[in-house]
Amino acid sequence: MTPTASKRPLQLNDQGQLRHFLSIDGLPRELLTEILDTADSFLEVGARAVKKVPLLRGKTVCNVFFENSTRTRTTFELAAQRLSADVITLNVSTSSASKGESLLDTLRNLEAMAADMFVVRHGDSGAAHFIAEHVCPDVAIINGGDGRHAHPTQGMLDMLTIRRHKGDFSQLSVAIVGDILHSRVARSNMLALKALGCPDIRVIAPKTLLPVCVEQYGVRVFTDLAEGLRDVDVVIMLRLQKERMAGGLLPSEGEFYRLYGLTQQRLLLAKPDAIVMHPGPINRGVEIESAVADGVQSVILNQVTYGIAIRMAVMSMAMSGQNTQRQLNLEAGEQN
Ligand code: CP
Repeated sequence: MTPTASKRPLQLNDQGQLRHFLSIDGLPRELLTEILDTADSFLEVGARAVKKVPLLRGKTVCNVFFENSTRTRTTFELAAQRLSADVITLNVSTSSASKGESLLDTLRNLEAMAADMFVVRHGDSGAAHFIAEHVCPDVAIINGGDGRHAHPTQGMLDMLTIRRHKGDFSQLSVAIVGDILHSRVARSNMLALKALGCPDIRVIAPKTLLPVCVEQYGVRVFTDLAEGLRDVDVVIMLRLQKERMAGGLLPSEGEFYRLYGLTQQRLLLAKPDAIVMHPGPINRGVEIESAVADGVQSVILNQVTYGIAIRMAVMSMAMSGQNTQRQLNLEAGEQN
C-alpha cells in the first residue's frame, strides 16, 4: 500500500522509496534489506582499480558537521566521491555559524549554491528532521548523527557487518554493552535489529546508563556483564559518552572497566565464534581491552570499510527517491 501524503513518513516519497535518511524508526524490513543488498553491490566497487560509478554525477553533496567526526565524515566524503558527486565539507568551527548564524540560515545559503544533498551531524536530537522539514523539497537530508537520538547509517553499517559475518538475523543473539543511555548508535541498532527479525537483543549496562523503559525496544536488559554475554553471537561495545554525561552516573572509569570492560577472559562467555564490534572511537582500557580490540574476533575496522558502501547505498537511494518524487510532482502538476 502506498502511504498517503499526510500519513507518509517524512523520509519516504509517495512510492515508499527513501527521500531522506533520518532514522531507522518506522522503516520496513524490506527497505532496510534493500539498503543492505545495495551496499553489498557497492563493496565490489571499493575493490576495483577505479573506485567510481556515475550514479550521482552532476550532483552536489554538502557535509555539514556541527560535531567532531573521523569515520562518519570521511566515509561520507569517500562515498559521495565514489558515486561521482561534487563534494564540499563545511568546517563548522571555521564557518559563520560561529558568528551567530542560525542553522537554517547556514543551510539556506548552501541551498543557494544548489546543493542536492546535505549530510548533517548535530548535537541536538531532532536536528536532521527539523532541517528536512525546512529545506526545499528537492534536497535530500542524510542524518550523520543527531544528539542521543539516531545514527542511522552507523546502524545500517553495523547490520551489514553482522549479516556478512553471521548471516541470517533470525538465528542470532546480539548484546549491546555500555553507555546505552547516551548512545544514538544503541538506539539505531536496537531498532534495526528488531526490524530485521533478530530474536534475542540484549542490552548490558549499569542501571544509571540505561534509558527509562528501554524494554520498549524489544530488548532484554542485563546489569551483569557475565550473565548478558553468555552464548551471544555478536558483542557491540559502546564508548562512554562523557561529553553527554551530566556527571555522577559512574563512580570512575576504572570501576566501569572492572565491571563492564570487555576482556579476553569475559569474551570466552560468548560463543567461540562471536564477533566483537564497536562504532568507534574506542577507548582502550575503559570499555575494551586492547587484546580484544585488536584480536581475531574483532571486526571493528571492517565496520569502517562497510560504512563507505552503506553510505553509497543510502545516498544513491535517497537521490533516486527524490528524482521519482520530482517526476510524480511534475506529472501531478500537468494533470491539474
Ligand atoms: N562511529 C562514529 O560515528 O564515529 P565518528 O564520530 O568518528 O564519526
